Amino acid sequence: MVAGGTGYIGSHTTVELQNAGYEVIIFDDLSNSNVEVLDGIERITGVRPDFVKLDLKDKEATRKALENYPDVKGIILFAASKAVGESVRMPLKYYRNNIVTLINLLELMPEFGVEGIVFSSSCTVYGQPDRENLPVTENAPIKPATSPYGNTKQINEEIIRDTIHSGAPFKSVILRYFNPIGAHPSAEIGELPNGVPQNLIPYLTQTAIGIRKELSVFGDDYNTPDGSCIRDYINVVDLAKAHVVAMDRMLENKSDYPIEIFNLGTGKGVSVLELIHTFERATGVKVPYKIVGRREGDIEQVWANPERANKVLGWTAKESLADTLLSAWNWQKRLRERGVQ
Ligand code: UD1
Repeated sequence: MVAGGTGYIGSHTTVELQNAGYEVIIFDDLSNSNVEVLDGIERITGVRPDFVKLDLKDKEATRKALENYPDVKGIILFAASKAVGESVRMPLKYYRNNIVTLINLLELMPEFGVEGIVFSSSCTVYGQPDRENLPVTENAPIKPATSPYGNTKQINEEIIRDTIHSGAPFKSVILRYFNPIGAHPSAEIGELPNGVPQNLIPYLTQTAIGIRKELSVFGDDYNTPDGSCIRDYINVVDLAKAHVVAMDRMLENKSDYPIEIFNLGTGKGVSVLELIHTFERATGVKVPYKIVGRREGDIEQVWANPERANKVLGWTAKESLADTLLSAWNWQKRLRERGVQ
């Protein structure tokens, strides 16, 4: 069962799960996604996943839905609110959405004999790592969260850890994503931000296609080679594939540990300016941009040491940044063809 399967990462993961032979059921309340995503998944894989429109904060409704699917063996939890700025304005929305959903699922899993849960976490738990901890391994210290959104990721990790340590009859894999970007190469599914995008790639592609006038680069006075922030941008299809191996690992009992944590990144740090120029080279499209002040709460630089995922999961990010940015551009063009602004 993919909770939040019509969302950005959830839809790409559903595709990869189906490609790998899994039968997928999606539970999603469509609060930040569109039911037409199911058409895209069907066009890519030839299979339409079962879909239940459901608010996962509603435990009784979730129980009823699970009663209809007694064969669910594993859960992947994507369903969550994820806008950092909004979380500062509306913390309780974030605590309720992101935490109640997890608690409900953890309580229901033993009732239905569900064997494992993969949880979507974030590199936000590391905050700004100290220099000696870059690239970041899973053992780097967890830093105090700088937003309610980030705090929900930390709290959820702790809730899972405590529940597993208490002897709960299931396993968990926590995946800490770096910056997922791009779209399926078919351009049938991709990221669909609501309103003005807050994240770099949707803002960039909307600027390139003319919806936005120019991209603001938040700061060029950081202590980095070109002064702009550094991130580890990971292709969303690569990221989706990591969920498939994580699920295989839990269900096939390949691990000696009931809980495991993996960083999912490329291992390569890329600056905002490098990224813009790579996009321009890959697509042949100029991106008007200007340098503005720093964005409050931004991390200067963070990128992954993904060795544990490489070795233990046997998973490696494969797509190049140029191809990934091209996929984001092709998706933006597809949205235009569909009349989505
Ligand atoms: C943010 C969150 C992270 C969350 C992720 C997904 C913070 C500190 N981190 O990641 O916890 O998991 O979103 O929602 O908020 N940039 C620009 N101009 C723009 C937009 C972004 O220059 O218009 C820069 C940012 O300064 C940053 C980089 O692009 O250096 C990436 O930004 P973004 O895509 O928002 O992701 P993060 O801030 O890394």
